[in-house]
Amino acid sequence: MRIVVLVSGTGSNLQAVIDAVAAGELPVEIAAVGSDRPDTYGIERSSAAGLETFVVNFKDYAARADWDAALLDAVAAYEPDYVVSSGFMRIVAPGFISAFEGRYINTHPALLPAFPGAHGVRDALAYGVKVTGCTVHFADAGVDTGPIIAQTPVTVLEGDTEETLHGRIKEAERALLIQVLGELARP
Ligand code: GAR
Repeated sequence: MRIVVLVSGTGSNLQAVIDAVAAGELPVEIAAVGSDRPDTYGIERSSAAGLETFVVNFKDYAARADWDAALLDAVAAYEPDYVVSSGFMRIVAPGFISAFEGRYINTHPALLPAFPGAHGVRDALAYGVKVTGCTVHFADAGVDTGPIIAQTPVTVLEGDTEETLHGRIKEAERALLIQVLGELARP
């Protein structure tokens, strides 16, 4: 199973996938790692791991449609079975969704449909929930919407900050992403 992973930031969840593949625990080939911005640690750590990388810098495109087309071309060139959005903080165009229908996976640090968007952990904490968690789902053209594949609950602890809570959610998220990719790779 060939995957392309898209990141916008540090790519710590991606690192867990890289490690699981390297350890022979996940029968997946990471064809490439792509980003919407230059100089991300996610791209740096992927290069260090010897993976192919590409950047389709959002800021290089005057028209949004041109960036959409460039991203689709860049990803499609690797002919992936699945595309994984792992902390990729851009909503992709409907054309991207239809090109990878049922094959575009996103992870989110909350129990969707609660707390979608870029601040899922902060928003859950501010609301005062006692349980939050993470979601792996098939993404559609909405913000963190689309059919849910799997979720893990995470208890909010007294005194949690966004950072401490996100840290525990990410631990759960890494395990869940690896589990889902494993199930897709070994149907
Ligand atoms: C992850 O927690 C992921 O769920 C979240 O960004 C983090 C990326 O961490 N994504 C979203 O909030 C999408 N709405 P990482 O770059 O260290 O893997």
